Amino acid sequence: MERSLTMELVRVTEAAAQKSARWMGLGKKNEADEAATSAMREVFDTVDMKGVVVIGEGEMDEAPMLYIGEKLGTGYGQRLDIAVDPLEGTNIVASGGWNALAVVAIADEGCLLHAPDMYMEKIAVGKDCVGKVDINKSVLENIQAVATAKNKQIEDVVATVLNRERHQKLIQEIRDAGARIKLINDGDVAGAINTAFEHTGVDILFGSGGAPEGVLAAVALKCLGGEIQGKLLPQTDDELERCKNMGIDCGKVLYMEDLVKGDDAIFAATGVTDGELLRGVQFKADVATTHSVVMRAKTGTVRFIEGQHRLPKNH
Ligand code: FBP
Repeated sequence: MERSLTMELVRVTEAAAQKSARWMGLGKKNEADEAATSAMREVFDTVDMKGVVVIGEGEMDEAPMLYIGEKLGTGYGQRLDIAVDPLEGTNIVASGGWNALAVVAIADEGCLLHAPDMYMEKIAVGKDCVGKVDINKSVLENIQAVATAKNKQIEDVVATVLNRERHQKLIQEIRDAGARIKLINDGDVAGAINTAFEHTGVDILFGSGGAPEGVLAAVALKCLGGEIQGKLLPQTDDELERCKNMGIDCGKVLYMEDLVKGDDAIFAATGVTDGELLRGVQFKADVATTHSVVMRAKTGTVRFIEGQHRLPKNH
């Protein structure tokens, strides 16, 4: 894959972040999402690639743009799978919360799992703990494994979990194991990625969230040398049928290679609101400042990029 695509992807996420950040705290999640989606769509059309959205804003009949199957790019260049989450954390932006991101991942054609829009149970860790955790093992066993791998006391281990009613038992199990918890209101892509960065203070992500978000996190963790394991959790007969049609057995653990094959993949994210890893967009007079991370799985290169964007008059 052309390495120049790394910079192109940052342009894509920067545009989405700038537009959606304007809606921060205004209580309008759909408007924030639409702003991100149309900005992202516009920039994609300037990028030399033959891309197809495999994880997007919905099916063709339910999303006006960035729908699954939509072709993106100028039509010149390589055939690619594209996964987008123009605004990961719509409620976060609506409430002016923590950790909203504009996110994109690309990989060689056929290399990203076409994850259906349903829940996925997840466990994610950074480099030190690769091969040490197992989604089929108990919470206690996994926390002990993380403590051993990171040479920490159990009480020094921090797990991150989406603060949801469905996670009450899980949260209790983490507490009983003796670890501490960082509850997040939304945004488990950031939650998963944070496990790979020491300074975020997060060691492991547990719990269920969106399956598409699981694939995006897998690309990021592949670049970072970390690991995510997932299991699809269909909630209805329809969702179960979808899994069957895709040939995915729901009890089966999806490992890194199932989520993203090979290492020809790139991940980019720009902060929309402030988070542990990236600052959100800052607007000042005629300049918007963005903070992004972009990484390539093949080389493991991770770049943090600050962008200064001149704003048009009367923006
Ligand atoms: P949206 O940006 O689509 O609102 O997703 C936010 C999010 O928190 C994801 O990070 C997470 O995977 C999913 O929602 C969890 O779903 P739910 O809110 O139903 O628990």
